[in-house]
Amino acid sequence: MTAAPTRHRIAYTGRLPVPVELELHELYDAQRIDATGLAQLADGVEALVVTPSTALTAATIRALPASVKLIASCSVGTDHIDLAAAAARGLPVTNTPDVLTDATADLAMLLILSACRQASVAERELRAGRWRGLSMADVPGIDLAGRTLGIYGFGRIGQATARRARAFGMQIAYHGPNRKPEAERELEARYEPDRRQFLQTIDVLSLHAPAGESTRHFVDAEALRWMRQGSVVVNTARGPLVDDAALIAALRSRHLHGAGLDVYDGEPEVNPGYLELDNVTLLPHIGSATIETRVAMGRRVLANLEAHFAGRPLPNLVGELRSP
Ligand code: 8YV
Repeated sequence: MTAAPTRHRIAYTGRLPVPVELELHELYDAQRIDATGLAQLADGVEALVVTPSTALTAATIRALPASVKLIASCSVGTDHIDLAAAAARGLPVTNTPDVLTDATADLAMLLILSACRQASVAERELRAGRWRGLSMADVPGIDLAGRTLGIYGFGRIGQATARRARAFGMQIAYHGPNRKPEAERELEARYEPDRRQFLQTIDVLSLHAPAGESTRHFVDAEALRWMRQGSVVVNTARGPLVDDAALIAALRSRHLHGAGLDVYDGEPEVNPGYLELDNVTLLPHIGSATIETRVAMGRRVLANLEAHFAGRPLPNLVGELRSP
């Protein structure tokens, strides 16, 4: 009798979409662990699957058993992983780009619309039984058409958001370290390399840059002062791009018309200052949360695991191990 081939051992944190979890357990000797389980990961686990809610700090990565040879993140963002520490151990990291572009851009558009039209406060009024019928005097919203959407981080998701905003009659400006001539032509977008000039000439700011030292607090008190009275800030990227105290003050003073947030510094904690404001729509990090997108992200993870165990190049290698 021939012994059944041993299956590769993997561990994963958090919950993955059900069909993906089923496939993981079918293909691998898979074990779901919580954050504390990470510290006591058994030797013999060969790959680790994580989501952004698991922070893989340098210390955590150094403490992983030597048997771990791959970190596959079910996300496009990798700021929860210390890539330098992973590279120092020769540990490749993969992510799940492209498949969540449309879902995240849809959500950015939803927040732009909600912030401009004050949809969430309007709904709260109705639910609280305070709606007394249509009144032409209640004008909580502002138009999108003719206004300028400023995109910070003109990558895949930023461009997909701009494409949607064009259909709403918005003009596009973008800011970031690199000029993107092709997208600029397609979207008739204006490149503004100067941060101050960029912020002074837009009406709605949508953030799409990754978290990191160079993007931290891109929206701070000074940036908000530069922004026009009555403008809007939307964040579907990462919480640390925004200085919460400064944004809360600008919303409270009504310098800003509104804001729409899907991500938070220190999430799942949310700065309580936001909860007291009626001109901000708050969502719980659901940028990629459609069934199709989450399953597609999970399939990216499976494709990276398969390539790794077959000794093939990793389709979505990120970080410092990646060749320049
Ligand atoms: C979710 C994201 O955090 O992919 C990212 O970087 O921020 C979001 O898509 C992710 O889907 C959770 O696994």
